[in-house]
Amino acid sequence: MIEKLKSLETSFKKVLKETDTEAKLADLKARFLGKKGELSAILKSLAQASPEERKTLGQAANEMKIRLTGKMDEAKGAIERTIIDSKLAADWIDITLTGSQRARSVKESGLHPVTIVQRELEDIFLSMGFDILDGPHIENDFYNFTALNIPETHPARDMQDTFWFKDMKHLLRTHTSTIQIRGMEEKKYPPFKFVAPGKVFRSEATDASHEAVFHQMEGMLIGRDITVAHLIYFEKTLLSEIFKRDVEIRLRPGFFPFVEPGFELDIQCLICGGKGCKVCKQTGWVELLPCGMTHPNVLRHGGIDPEEYNGFAFGLGLDRLVMMRYGINDIRLLHSGSIDFSRQFATC
Ligand code: PHE
Repeated sequence: MIEKLKSLETSFKKVLKETDTEAKLADLKARFLGKKGELSAILKSLAQASPEERKTLGQAANEMKIRLTGKMDEAKGAIERTIIDSKLAADWIDITLTGSQRARSVKESGLHPVTIVQRELEDIFLSMGFDILDGPHIENDFYNFTALNIPETHPARDMQDTFWFKDMKHLLRTHTSTIQIRGMEEKKYPPFKFVAPGKVFRSEATDASHEAVFHQMEGMLIGRDITVAHLIYFEKTLLSEIFKRDVEIRLRPGFFPFVEPGFELDIQCLICGGKGCKVCKQTGWVELLPCGMTHPNVLRHGGIDPEEYNGFAFGLGLDRLVMMRYGINDIRLLHSGSIDFSRQFATC
């Protein structure tokens, strides 16, 4: 009987040497240590042995079991290390290279989906005569709130959970509406129209549709005698360009201190055509674009005379557009840094 144990251990060691994957390891375990494995078979046959023999053999078998289990754990660790090592070897980027050097050094490369959609939108806006503006991520109180008709004590400040700096004067911008003011200051003389894409930051708990860092594209158009009719016509044209088909829209009242009147613009669900589905939560409509007629106080803060000029503003949620376009069901994937995720958008 002891011979049987010895030969079991020898053949175990032989097989272990060739065990280099998790699947093979599982086979090994089943073959030698499993319920229907070789060791169990030997232990079962102990029933026929004398009590004396049973004791020594039982002990030897147990000790062997511990040895084999230890060896298997070692092998498991080694296999896991190789898996991690090979992942590390395959999934890396040299961050010291410039973009173009990196593009040459990797086989597949492509733009992040947010960048793809942002650039497409920029092309659409450029074709409609808009300028494209940029602005700082770190803002002061004035551009993020006060100039947008949200004074210090106004409860509307609580609508946005804000990352403040220790001085309580600076913050990470909570929306791209900051560029409404910066844009008016820069452009000075209406008529003008511009968009401003970029990252915005909110101190929010994250889930499938909320992230602390996300993307907006602000738009503003200032001229003379602009009406809600212009706004509706413009948004409908814009959205038809974006989705490359005619879209139905509807406006609902929405409160934003920097526009009056303010709206939530919904589009008829493109997935079900308005009949009701999971994406539109059976309502037939998807909320897409807050907008409204620019408040006179905001024009004044931007150095524009509200007696002479007026206009509208809107805020596109870029991440939502990206998710609708590509059928991505969790916003957190966008900043996951996962190469497997990004690779799906590789274009070359
Ligand atoms: N800045 C607003 C937000 O982030 C969106 C908005 C932009 C609303 C422009 C109206 C006009 O919620």
